This record gives sequence, structure tokens and C-alpha cells, in this order.
Amino acid sequence: MTVTAPNVLAEGLHDYRVADPAIMVIFGGTGDLSGRKLLPALYNVSKQRLLPAGFAVVGAAIDDLTDDLYRKHAAERIRQFSRTQPVDERVLDAFLSSVFYMKVDFSKLDQFKALARRLEELDATRLIPGNRMFYCATPPPTYETITEQLKAAGMTEGSGYHRIVIEKPFGFDLKSARELTQILQHAFPEDSVYRIDHYLGKETVQNIMAFRFANSIFEPVWNANLIDSVQITVAEDIGIEGRASYYERAGAMRDIVQNHALQLLALVGMEPPLAFEANAVRDEKVKLLRAIRPITDEQVAHATVRGQYTKGWVMGEHVLGYREEKNVSPGSLTETFAALRLFIDNWRWANVPFYIRAGKRLPKRVTEIRIQFKRPPHLTFGREATQELDPNAITLRIQPEEGISLKFGAKVPSAGLRIRSVTMDFQYMTSFLVGVPEAYERLLLDCMIGDPTLFTRADEVEAAWRIIDPIEAAWRDGRPPLGMYAAGTWGPPAAAKLLQADSREWHRP
Ligand code: BG6
Repeated sequence: MTVTAPNVLAEGLHDYRVADPAIMVIFGGTGDLSGRKLLPALYNVSKQRLLPAGFAVVGAAIDDLTDDLYRKHAAERIRQFSRTQPVDERVLDAFLSSVFYMKVDFSKLDQFKALARRLEELDATRLIPGNRMFYCATPPPTYETITEQLKAAGMTEGSGYHRIVIEKPFGFDLKSARELTQILQHAFPEDSVYRIDHYLGKETVQNIMAFRFANSIFEPVWNANLIDSVQITVAEDIGIEGRASYYERAGAMRDIVQNHALQLLALVGMEPPLAFEANAVRDEKVKLLRAIRPITDEQVAHATVRGQYTKGWVMGEHVLGYREEKNVSPGSLTETFAALRLFIDNWRWANVPFYIRAGKRLPKRVTEIRIQFKRPPHLTFGREATQELDPNAITLRIQPEEGISLKFGAKVPSAGLRIRSVTMDFQYMTSFLVGVPEAYERLLLDCMIGDPTLFTRADEVEAAWRIIDPIEAAWRDGRPPLGMYAAGTWGPPAAAKLLQADSREWHRP
């Protein structure tokens, strides 16, 4: 008989926080985000019994649907996209009984008023004290209308809490980001605005803080004295997946670098917050983002790279070039790859380059942060013995194969004196024996509980645009030129040159 020892590390993985009963209204409830992410995440939260009693979801969209038809739609999406498979039909049924639908044309105030009445009825039957989460799973241009209509219909005040959740992009540049903030703050106080950057909901991203601040051995070496450089890679093998109308305007810089990559940089670079508490954490991130040296117009050609994929092979499959994708202009200059070198002007990071690269149709999907250490100051063992020795490195593997590895030198057994690099690995899957939950599960629950730590604050968004705006301006002028790369390669040749110019090279994940 085999006896499996209990995994002590997996104990207590359950979330212990309890949210108050609330209604979550999903504007765009029949759309892609809702079907792929939100409804499956809510189902999984309910499976973990973390949804408060009485909780209700109201899908709101332009389609003519009844509650029953919407439940059918939700069930299909959940079965298809749930993280946990197969779906537990009993849990699903119970969850669907708390799902409702209202047709809402965002341009019609009377339809918002009707929605308000429906929500009040649900409050009464489900003993909900007026708590509301309004989730805009809709294109950003609708945020303004939805916010204004909610206010005009009197839905942003009254008993209970009133929170609004929006998805990136938060503006197109600094100016439009500020305008959006003003519009939102006209109806909701800043601490009721939940800006989702789903990277912050990823377990491995939250673990950056745990790794740095729950251990005593890393923080003393986490600075310019010992760190040579930092590389942040957000590589995707997929293309734009039919999202041309959004991506043509965004490009890799606005789609990934402005938010996900800079958030990773902020978490790796920030000072220890006083507490793991929303404003303490976000204050430190803002400080770090503000310390990033702006790339000047003269530097932009040497400090940034932009590229676009042409046809090629990815994971054994022949794929189209970006300009051949549906609804992409044949002369499009939108970048599908961006790379840059940034410096942080503070005591901790003086002169340590932070290299960021993000791209579509790269050879594989991998997001990682590589902390590259300096070589030892003196070669005790001589050049001969250390030919195969690389400098120390810590890799924070955000996805997939989530984990952390440390590279160090070890003596090769019985081979005279030769030292070679080896790695020590931590992997979530093998240590905790559980799959990593979806970012949206954590974020939706945090929003219900009222914990905005993992959401971006208005000043963070602005600080990030301040870094990106001058680069975008030079790119619009054609500097540096757009470099082409075949799908399935690591970006245009200029990407490698960016590091070669500093006598470094990109880590091959
Ligand atoms: C989104 C971008 O924010 O993140 C997409 O708009 C991208 O273009 C996606 O594919 C990547 O997310 P993840 O979680 O798969 O790394």
C-alpha cells in the first residue's frame, strides 16, 4: 500500500477573507473578456466557496437576452474556459442561479435607471446591503459614457459601497490618461476606482514582493553594488488574435510595456513598503517609476528598438506576417516588438541598466525577470578553471513553469579544478502541488473585499505614461526605424545590438 505524505506546504492555501454580499454588474457581459475570464473566474471563486452569500452577477449588454439565455451563454463559456476541468456541474448550477441579465444600451439613461431598479429588487430578495461593483468589460471609449450614466442614474451613491473596475489601456498617453482619471473621479472617489493590470493578480508577480521582503538574504545584495543589470522579458508566441482594431493603435509599447512590464520593473526595483497595504505598496511603486530617467529625443534611437513580425514559423506552425493579418493596414508601422534600456536614478540602482523587451510571435511564451549579478572581484581559480562559469543570476519565472532559479558556480566532480555554472530551482507546481490560480480570481475577490493593493493607482498610470510618451513621439517621427523580424525569432537584429552595445546579451529563456 502506498501512503502519500501530506504536502505541508499546501496547507492553508485557502483564502481566509470573507467579502460582504454584493452585486457585480458586468457591462459587456456577453463579450470576450467576460466569457473567457470573468465568468470562469467567478465560477472558480464560487467553487472555492469564497463568494459571499447572496452575491449576484448581472450581465449588462446590448443583446436581447433573458436571464435563462444568459445563464446558458455563461455555462458554455465556463465549461470552455474554466481553469479547473472538468467543470463541477453542481457548483456550476448553484453559481448560475445567482446570474442575471439586463439589456442596457449605454446611450440610454432610462435603461440605466431600469437597471438600478432591478439591482434594488435583487438587493431586497438576496439581502444585499446596496454594495455594487461595476465592471467595464467593454472597449475603453465606453468608460466615459458608462461612468456618466451611472452617476446620472444615481447609481454611484447610497447605502453600501460603489466601485468601478476598468481594464487597460488607461488612456493612450499622459494627457488622455489624466482626462480619463478626471471623468472617473467625477463619479467615484479614487479609492473606489479599481484599474486592473492582470499581471498584478498573477501569483508569481505577487511573489516578487514575498521573495524580496519575506527573506533576509536577498535584499542586502539587491542593489547596484552587486547587480550588473536586470532583464525583463514578456514574450508571446501568439499573434494579435483578431484584435487588429485595438492593436493597430496600441502596439507592443502601449499594450505591454506601459503597464505589465513597467509594473514588473516597479516591483523588482522599489524600496520595501512599510506594510503590505494598498497605499504603502503603491507609494513605493510610484517613487520608483518617477525615478526612471526619461529617454531624451537624442537617446531614443540608441536606447529603444521597435520591430514588426513578418511571416514565419512559430511552434512548428506557419504563420502570417503582421501586415497580412485581418484588418491590419498593409503599410502598418505598428510595432509588435519593443525593447528599451532604462536607468533608475536613485541610490539603489545608479547606473544599473534595466532592459525590457516585449513582443508577439516570438519563439515561445515566457515572461521572466533576470537579475544578472556582477562577476566576483577577483578570479581566485584563474581563467582556465572558470571558463564555463557565468556570473550569478536569479531568474524570476513569471510564466509558464512558474518558479525561481539561482545560478551559481560549482566544482565539477573529479575533474581537477574546473568550475561550472549550475542552477538551483524552485517550482510552484512541485513545491505546492497545486496549479496557480487565474489572476482574475484573485483580483475579483480583492475588489469585493475592498483591497486595492493589486490595482494601479492614477499616479502610477501617469508616471508610466511619462516614460512612454517621449519614446512614442520619436517613434512617430520614424526614429529608430521599424525593424522587421521573421515570426518565431527573438525580434529584429537591433534588439541584440541594444545589449551588444553594452557588452551584454539577452538571456535565452
Ligand atoms: C494583455 C494584452 O494585457 O495581456 C495582450 O492586451 C496579451 O496582447 C496579454 O496577449 C498577455 O497576458 P498573459 O496573461 O497571457 O501573459
